[in-house]
Amino acid sequence: MQNQFHPEDVIEELDEVLEDLEETDLQDPAFEDEDVVLEAPPDSFIFKSSIFPVLIINRNFRIIYENPACHRLFTGFFKLEGNQLFDVFGKSFGLESIRDIRDTVLHGKNGFSWKGISRLKTREIETVETRVFLFPSEVNTRDPNEFVVLFDDVTEENKHLLRSVFMSLLEASKLKDNDTGQHITRVNYYSRKLSEELYHKPGYEHIDADFIDDIGFLASMHDVGKIGTPDDILNKEGPLSDWEWSVMQEHTKNGAYILSTYPNPMAKEIALSHHERWDGSGYPFQLVGDMIPLPARIVAIADVYDALRMKRSYKDALDHRSTVKKIKEESGTHFDPSLVEVFSAIADDFDAIYEEHKDIGTKNPNS
Ligand SMILES: [Fe+2]
Ligand SMILES: [Fe+2]
Repeated sequence: MQNQFHPEDVIEELDEVLEDLEETDLQDPAFEDEDVVLEAPPDSFIFKSSIFPVLIINRNFRIIYENPACHRLFTGFFKLEGNQLFDVFGKSFGLESIRDIRDTVLHGKNGFSWKGISRLKTREIETVETRVFLFPSEVNTRDPNEFVVLFDDVTEENKHLLRSVFMSLLEASKLKDNDTGQHITRVNYYSRKLSEELYHKPGYEHIDADFIDDIGFLASMHDVGKIGTPDDILNKEGPLSDWEWSVMQEHTKNGAYILSTYPNPMAKEIALSHHERWDGSGYPFQLVGDMIPLPARIVAIADVYDALRMKRSYKDALDHRSTVKKIKEESGTHFDPSLVEVFSAIADDFDAIYEEHKDIGTKNPNS
């Protein structure tokens, strides 16, 4: 019974500590730690080894200090210290937030405190999403001159939350169309590889690090709409009737509907348009050329490459060379010619992905 918890003892102990603190003269030289070298601003030293990324700004919104954690978080984006907060983070806050931050610092709105969200990105670096907390660095004043800006990096947390929901949808669709094996994983890898290559080509400046990361996840969703396709059509051995074929084609629209809540429209574009063809003979809307969204044109090559390489109940598997030949033959009819050109240059990488993520004894009658 020796270790029994007595709340009154804890309260008593706490009172003693508080009394001790009141009695301590904080200005006493004996209380100072000689090893601590203060840097301007004086408050910043406590943040030096903090795991929280922290900036200190003055009333003119100039960044007067960044701690090492903050430096690491935003490395590759820009230099922070010495710059104006809004010059650096202007685009990552919405206009409303910028007004709020101004009113917080200059006019003491909400007790000189603000919290919000910041999203920073460059072409080379994926979006960094942070919760931001701004509050005075001095507590014993009615008119603070310096403010702490504390960042909480929620990039991975939010991405994981979002993607796990859509992964569950994908898993649900696999319960119906469960013999696609590693097909969807490989389509992710091919699409990512092709996008990485396009990133360096003129004319594809809108492909950035986020695009590459997103297509590497969303390509796998291209057939998620099959969750709405009746089983007897989805699993039918042999050719589909005209009516069955038109029901099958609905998986593109169903997929777009299912993915319409995904924040990046790329998800919807891939599901809706991965069966469109460059010459306008595809479905569901017979889009022509670059009316077909780029992610869907990329996934079309990835999907067909993989489908050709797989053995199905109604066809044999093609080898890599024959598959590449077939895709080249369909340049300008089925596929975007400039994408086929890039594909041809890196076709060996497609083969390597196929070999590395090969299925063991799978079949899929219709795709
Ligand atoms: Fe499809
Ligand atoms: Fe597919």
